[in-house]
Amino acid sequence: MFDVEGFDSWALDYEREAAEMEAEGGYPFGGRTQVLDLVAELAHAGTGAKVLDLGCGPGILLERFAQAGCEVYGIDSSNQMLALAEKRVPAAHLALADLRDELPAEWGSGFAAIISTYAIHHIPDADKIALIRRLLGLLAPGGAFLIGDVAFADEADRLAARAEAGESWDDDEYYTVTDVLAAELPGVSFHKVTPWSGVVEVRAS
Ligand SMILES: C[S@@+](CC[C@H](N)C(=O)[O-])C[C@H]1O[C@@H](n2cnc3c(N)ncnc32)[C@H](O)[C@@H]1O
Repeated sequence: MFDVEGFDSWALDYEREAAEMEAEGGYPFGGRTQVLDLVAELAHAGTGAKVLDLGCGPGILLERFAQAGCEVYGIDSSNQMLALAEKRVPAAHLALADLRDELPAEWGSGFAAIISTYAIHHIPDADKIALIRRLLGLLAPGGAFLIGDVAFADEADRLAARAEAGESWDDDEYYTVTDVLAAELPGVSFHKVTPWSGVVEVRAS
């Protein structure tokens, strides 16, 4: 598993290498474009909507939402990743922070979507659940918290993917199992994209 320094040094090569791994197919990055597309679709965020990206990296989705007229916000613990995001989306509100930190107070609330792609697996389930519970309070009515990542409907699916991946499986990462989240939070559903990835949706009522 990468630490902050790891992501800083990966930043410049991240997009190219992620695309290469995606082209190879399989766990973990096979299906990545479909996962990102589905997050963008499920966000239902149009002109003027606020969208927050947790672990925004070089700003791939920030750019997409900004182009759709959204007001975009991103946090990341890697300075180098954030520098790329800032260059790509100058209008984005960005903060160097851990996923679990409080957001800058001036960012306010009323987010149409809070998204996190291929990032939230760096924090343990208990932290993830506490984070989602807290941030659900910042969503606009009907808004969604969306996790696009290596993720599963249930433990049986996770174990099957792990067996299939063999030695390439990273046991240090905390992949979301939807059932585990659903036991703690309301409005949770899963949209499977590949046997190892998908989008977990937590919809505010
Ligand atoms: C694999 S990249 C994904 C970037 C982007 N979301 C995407 O889908 O292309 C993971 C990102 O999460 C960030 N990250 C990892 N752990 C984090 C943490 N605890 N707090 C904030 N950011 C974190 C990394 O710095 C990196 O930019």
